Amino acid sequence: MFLRDCWYVVGFSGDLGGAPVARTVCGRPIVLFRTASGRAAALEDRCGHRAAPLSRGVCAGETIRCPYHGLEYDRDGRCTRVPSQEHIPDTLHVRAYPLVERDAVLWLWPGEPARADPRAIVSQAYHEDSAWAWNHGMLEVAAEQQLVVDNLLDLSHLQYVHQGTLGGNPEEDAAAELTVERHGNAVHVRRWLRNVTPSARNVLALGAVERVDRWQEFVFRPGVLQFHSGAAPANTGALDEGRREHATSIRHFHGITPATAASTLYFFSSAWNFRADDAEFGAKMTETTISTFLEDKALLEAQQLRLAQEPDRPLRTLRSDAGVVHARRIMAELLAAEAAATAS
Ligand code: FES
Ligand SMILES: [Fe+2]
Repeated sequence: MFLRDCWYVVGFSGDLGGAPVARTVCGRPIVLFRTASGRAAALEDRCGHRAAPLSRGVCAGETIRCPYHGLEYDRDGRCTRVPSQEHIPDTLHVRAYPLVERDAVLWLWPGEPARADPRAIVSQAYHEDSAWAWNHGMLEVAAEQQLVVDNLLDLSHLQYVHQGTLGGNPEEDAAAELTVERHGNAVHVRRWLRNVTPSARNVLALGAVERVDRWQEFVFRPGVLQFHSGAAPANTGALDEGRREHATSIRHFHGITPATAASTLYFFSSAWNFRADDAEFGAKMTETTISTFLEDKALLEAQQLRLAQEPDRPLRTLRSDAGVVHARRIMAELLAAEAAATAS
């Protein structure tokens, strides 16, 4: 069952140019396209005539043209042209989805359009701020969305899955000070590591430093996780006093979009406010980001196979799963609310 009344990331602005893009979201085929005037749109990816995928077609002015017999559709899904006849039957229209382009992110609402409120979209303002350099990407993960969310919410996996990239010293990491709180439909997690060995990424960011204070602080809302990580030389006030002007900050943004019941579109960006003009450093950051996520992907896909073999066997919960438990509860509540709203 999918939570459809939710804003999901379906791409980054720069990825949507002159060619249509196909996405599967909550089990439904969707085509994204950009019109000649620069406006982005999302339609069901199925022509109203003979069901050809519109994503195989082309953008034509303010419309998208079907690759089969050339029917054209506007941003609202209205058929505006049938090359073989003048009359355009209403039955040719296709479903349009609410789509918002903001902070260089494309957000889609696959649920009931009347319940789509763009004010619920979280801000990613640093994507548009030249003080920050950023990269972005997307991975298709052959695992259900909830497993990807679980992975992000239990960072005790860092020192095992990401030893070569993010992990520091396993014993120090296990002693992280963890705070997990639910606020409305959001989970706030704070993980502080005091006076610890720097990770490979910390060294990349800070240069040679013996001991660091590290933090991983994030907020999860259904479909999106915003993550702030950073490090500063140890005992310089970055944790308790919040003095982080001498620290390195990285803002991670994760869009976790259910594709099918067993696959997820995992969108990510990482932004950093230091060495923002250093292209070589930027390339290294991108390389580390992608290798980190590939490590998660391999683990999650193996986990999905095991779960599929025995789907009814229960999972167990540890103290480090506090964020996971909150997130699963929020999802269950929102699914129930959506079912009730749809039934009424
Ligand atoms: S199937 Fe699209 S125009 Fe015929
Ligand atoms: Fe991970």
